[in-house]
Amino acid sequence: MAWGSAPGKLILFGEHAVVFGEPALATAIDLRTEVYARPHEEWLADGASLEAPKYRYVRAAVGRTWTGGPLRFEIRSMIPSGGGLGSSAAVTVATLAALRALGRVEVVPGDVAKEAFAVEHEVQGRASPIDTSTSAHGGGLLVLRERRDQFLWSVERDRRRWFLHDATLPRMSLVVGNTGISAATGPLVARVKDLVDRDPKAAAAVREIGTITGLALAAFRDDDLGAVGALMSRNHRLLQTLGVGHPMLDRLVGAVAPVAYGAKMTGAGGGGSIVALTDRPNEAAAAITAAGGRAFLVEPARGHGVEGHE
Ligand code: MEV
Repeated sequence: MAWGSAPGKLILFGEHAVVFGEPALATAIDLRTEVYARPHEEWLADGASLEAPKYRYVRAAVGRTWTGGPLRFEIRSMIPSGGGLGSSAAVTVATLAALRALGRVEVVPGDVAKEAFAVEHEVQGRASPIDTSTSAHGGGLLVLRERRDQFLWSVERDRRRWFLHDATLPRMSLVVGNTGISAATGPLVARVKDLVDRDPKAAAAVREIGTITGLALAAFRDDDLGAVGALMSRNHRLLQTLGVGHPMLDRLVGAVAPVAYGAKMTGAGGGGSIVALTDRPNEAAAAITAAGGRAFLVEPARGHGVEGHE
């Protein structure tokens, strides 16, 4: 039997804009998905057919990398699905790691990240490598247009190239507020592309989000969490103008405002989750719960990315 494991992620700045090549910043979190795989007489996942829609990332990972006979998978995830926390990327990365371990191929994070991006692209359509690379890397991840210090790997697609870098983030308290509304990423990404193609104001919003990511990096470097929080709020408003907001996201962002440096939607939006930066995590969690959301306290993970063993 082989085992693969990978973390979920939180995008701190730059979702959607990163698909257009703008910079973005994410961190892996201490919630993980584990995938067990072993040879079997038929294809199964959690005792059921692998054909079920919820296993499409597992199926695509198998289709791209596995040349052996049928397998039985068991999937255990601590990451809520459709919640903006990278559950699809984590199951993809963990499956690829389990398949590598089973085939006695070394689990190299950069190689797994590239395969996982190809899987995500196949299943979801237009995407950037931020989710899959953050899950494979396991710590802070900065996406840039060009190669700088702390470079990890690059990923190319349709004449666009993303340069992935390790990002050192300070210790901080992040509280996630899940709306309980799940929204598929693919259609939201397609909707933003449509809007950007038609509306110069949307194209300008995408560029401004990229600028905000740069300012946030400087604010993190200066340990100025107040400035980081204000930039999160600006990023949230710009995502609203790109049409990926939801009244429940705004409600949760408003509810945590009195006890947080700042908050914004995280991930594809349209539902999913917000992330709040705060030094009062219990009060922030209580505010989210009182507003009808589900609160989680998460720690940015450090260097505990994809793993796989036989
Ligand atoms: C989703 O977690 C992040 C998006 O930017 C899509 C992507 O980068 O592939 C919305």
